[in-house]
Amino acid sequence: MLWEIVSTVFILTISVWGSPKCRTRFNAEVVCVAGSDDYILQRGLVSDNNDTVAITLKDCRITDVDIEAFKNVYNLKEIDLSRNKISFLKVGVFDGIPKLSSLRLSKNLLSTLPLGLFDNLPTLQRLDVSDNKINFLKLGIFNNLPQLVRLELANNEFLGNELDPCLFDKNPMIKYLHFSGNNMSEAPDQLLNGIQELSILGLSNCYLTEIPKFATRSNLNTLKKILLQRNQIRRLDDPTTFINMGNLAMLDLFNNTIENLNETVFKPLTKIEVIDLSLNKIEQIPKNMFQNMLSVKSIDLSNNLIKIIPTNAFKSSCLQTLDLSSNRISYLERNFFSTLCCFNKTLSTFYFKNNPFQCACLVEILKDMKKFGIKHDIDENKEHTKCSMTNEVTCMRPDEEIRDVDNDEDKLWSTFGLPHYINSTK
Ligand SMILES: *[C@@H]1O[C@H](CO)[C@@H](O)[C@H](O)[C@H]1NC(C)=O
Ligand SMILES: *[C@@H]1O[C@H](CO)[C@@H](O)[C@H](O)[C@H]1NC(C)=O
Ligand SMILES: *[C@@H]1O[C@H](CO)[C@@H](O)[C@H](O)[C@H]1NC(C)=O
Ligand SMILES: *[C@@H]1O[C@H](CO)[C@@H](O)[C@H](O)[C@H]1NC(C)=O
Ligand SMILES: *[C@@H]1O[C@H](CO)[C@@H](O)[C@H](O)[C@H]1NC(C)=O
Repeated sequence: MLWEIVSTVFILTISVWGSPKCRTRFNAEVVCVAGSDDYILQRGLVSDNNDTVAITLKDCRITDVDIEAFKNVYNLKEIDLSRNKISFLKVGVFDGIPKLSSLRLSKNLLSTLPLGLFDNLPTLQRLDVSDNKINFLKLGIFNNLPQLVRLELANNEFLGNELDPCLFDKNPMIKYLHFSGNNMSEAPDQLLNGIQELSILGLSNCYLTEIPKFATRSNLNTLKKILLQRNQIRRLDDPTTFINMGNLAMLDLFNNTIENLNETVFKPLTKIEVIDLSLNKIEQIPKNMFQNMLSVKSIDLSNNLIKIIPTNAFKSSCLQTLDLSSNRISYLERNFFSTLCCFNKTLSTFYFKNNPFQCACLVEILKDMKKFGIKHDIDENKEHTKCSMTNEVTCMRPDEEIRDVDNDEDKLWSTFGLPHYINSTK
């Protein structure tokens, strides 16, 4: 008797040798782990159960999915097939699961998505095909996904300039859209025209050399976050760039090659809270740059080439955190912190290490920050020790000196009448 049980268990184990092992939680969630071999997902492993609501087949060494693998799981809402080795999916594999709302296919080897693959998923809200090798997205592939809210396309191999401008015309409800890690440099301007409620747009590492027109059109005025890290955007000098972005709360331009800023470029961003311009090539901050931006809480200008910070650039903005670390700043203007005040509140955090500050200026800054209770990133003991070896006492502010000279020159001219070049014309 005992022997029979043991041998039955043994034979059962042998018969599923190598295939994923699945268990059911709460009578509704099937969770599988990889077996010892690669596996073609067949009918029988997770199919034929109307109680199943979610199936997790993550990291299960699956290389292919049979057409009936998801047969008779009529109430299924979620499938996770991420981190497998699937290189192709047959049209029909996702048919017969009309309630599916989330489908994860990320981290596979998919190079193409055949037309019709997603045609019978009328309530799908979330589709993740990121981290595959998809080299083209055919017009129509998303046409029967009217409820799609979240679409992850990051880290594939398609080219923006080969995408049809109508690709997303039938997906007006998309809120989260991620293209990061694809070459979107020449994507058509109308690409997102059908989208009405976009909230987050991921365009990091997309070989962009400018803020793309398709990302800033008037139908995208719902946008709250735009991620543009690790591109080659060089200029922010067109004042109309963000005119449709009145709801944007976060603009992330970390690690680009921005050199020029136009002082009016951010003015349309009336709800902006976070601006990240770190790791760029900015040398100058125009003197009205962030003035009167009442919603802005955090500005990161670290790792640029800035020498001079015009205090007026931040006047009357309600900044809480300012990062100027790793620049070329040697001093700050007089009363820097009291100018930053807004409704009697000043900065709460100021990062400024890795700048060639003059000792006398640094001492002043540290004193002021103590007065206003501002947190910072400087090791005071270290700086004091370093500075005690110099005998600088006054903070030299070259721009003030230049201004004084300018004033003196003005006086000079008024004493001597018109400048000579005017006298000498003709
Ligand atoms: C599963 O549900 C579908 C739709 O309600 C029904 O047609 C089918 O008979 C059910 N299957 C089982 C085995 O209960
Ligand atoms: C990106 O795609 C464009 C065509 O749209 C091409 O000219 C360019 O060389 C590509 N850039 C890179 C880095 O592959
Ligand atoms: C910045 O981006 C470049 C590619 O554009 C990349 O090689 C580099 O590692 C990035 N630096 C950081 C700190 O992310
Ligand atoms: C900013 O743009 C405006 C309008 O185009 C222009 O008049 C101004 O000269 C620009 N400023 C800089 C510093 O480029
Ligand atoms: C700011 O503080 C000063 C003195 O502490 C006070 O007189 C003034 O009313 C305050 N202003 C606001 C807008 O809170």
